Amino acid sequence: MADAPHPNPSPEGEGLYLRNLAAALASAAKSAKAAPGPRWSFWGSVQQDSIMANVTVIGSQWGDEGKGKIVDWLASRADAVVRFQGGHNAGHTLVVGEQVYKLSLLPSGIVTGTLSIIGNGVVLDPWALRDEITKLRGQGVAINPENFAIADNCALILPFHRDLDALRETAAGAGKIGTTGRGIGPAYEDKVGRRAIRVCDLAHLDKLEPQLDRLTAHHDALRAGFGEPPIDRERLIADLTEIADYVLEYAQPVWKRLKKVRKAGARILFEGAQGVLLDVDHGTYPFVTSSNTVSGTAAAGSGLGPSAVGFVLGIAKAYTTRVGSGPFPTELEDEIGQRLGERGHEFGTVTGRKRRCGWFDAVLVRQSCAVSGVTGIALTKLDVLDGFDTIRICTGYRLRGKILDYFPAHSADQAEVEPIYEEMDGWQETTAGARSYADLPAQAIKYIQRVQELIETPIALVSTSPEREDTILIRDPFSD
Ligand code: IMP
Repeated sequence: MADAPHPNPSPEGEGLYLRNLAAALASAAKSAKAAPGPRWSFWGSVQQDSIMANVTVIGSQWGDEGKGKIVDWLASRADAVVRFQGGHNAGHTLVVGEQVYKLSLLPSGIVTGTLSIIGNGVVLDPWALRDEITKLRGQGVAINPENFAIADNCALILPFHRDLDALRETAAGAGKIGTTGRGIGPAYEDKVGRRAIRVCDLAHLDKLEPQLDRLTAHHDALRAGFGEPPIDRERLIADLTEIADYVLEYAQPVWKRLKKVRKAGARILFEGAQGVLLDVDHGTYPFVTSSNTVSGTAAAGSGLGPSAVGFVLGIAKAYTTRVGSGPFPTELEDEIGQRLGERGHEFGTVTGRKRRCGWFDAVLVRQSCAVSGVTGIALTKLDVLDGFDTIRICTGYRLRGKILDYFPAHSADQAEVEPIYEEMDGWQETTAGARSYADLPAQAIKYIQRVQELIETPIALVSTSPEREDTILIRDPFSD
């Protein structure tokens, strides 16, 4: 089919249009000035979004900061919860009374019945989606098109993405990233390479040929390099046909639904996955995930403008953990690290891998807060530090004789920096279950205050157990 003519085919055409528009606006302004009576306002003539306090929750370390509990706690007061990046590599554990819910892909709001949305910035594995919905329904959670929607322009994770993730990791030797093996990277690569199959394609499987040509041209060459057979197109179409209706039941232009929700004055909670140090731009590259995990992605990954992001709540553990490979300056490979891991139950929700543990790194969290515009921090798992005689906080780095107050960009420098520590007395009392500052030992309060000073960001809340109610609230992120 021939392309339709462009309305402004040349730069001169565009320039002319802009000049005409400027002239028209100038003349409208002139006549408005001259006209008697009430002044007509171009600005106020279109109904603006009502500005409600939205909240964006992001991890400010390497993920696993305890976002699930905080999001669940906030979700009970939100009208919609939106996932905007990542895929089923995320692991959110929610504890509600006796029930433990483990989510990887679905927004945490689904457990409370809050409208839950998967935004366009997510990469969606349709089979993982079906498994997770089936599991949650088995736990009594209601999931239907009333309370759950998926962006129709969301890119899909397909079976050969998972294969490629594994093949590349196996072949990478010392360069292994330690991915979750869910096909996240290859799916994002196809999206940016403009060969992804998206949710909306499931409604047009008969029109998939050109996209499949692009996809197989790329992947078959890669697969041949690994000694793998070409993609079986018929099988792929059959698999997609089998799952299509299941996904399409929830598919829609979610930017439109969110616009409506926002116009109605509802509160939106954006739920980040992973953490800022795994951000593809700002994290410990190349040991990162393949999406932007910073707060700004909430807008692009859901189809709302940047003003919708609202209060940015960064989640930080009172110490540090990381799964997978990559630099970790405060890592403790001794009995203290072991103790943090055991007390904090530091095993991955998705892969079950043991997490690496270390002291709180204020340099990293300060950097995460800066690049992500964090308004306030939720400090989690404070109780894991109970009973230590002394506690350390990293306040800077030494690199080849120089003192650094930031984390350098190059992975070799990141691996070489030596942490500079400040030491504080610990506390022997338990902080588990505390619900107000008055319940905390004086030393624990001193620790929180010192963390706050060093990261140059206020602490908005402190979480003292996996239970929803065990939270010390200092500033409510949802207060207008
Ligand atoms: P990928 O996202 O599976 O490609 O993995 C890339 C890196 O991000 C690996 O180091 C993973 O361990 C890490 N990662 C991905 N998702 C999470 C998460 O939810 N929590 C912590 N680390 C994660």
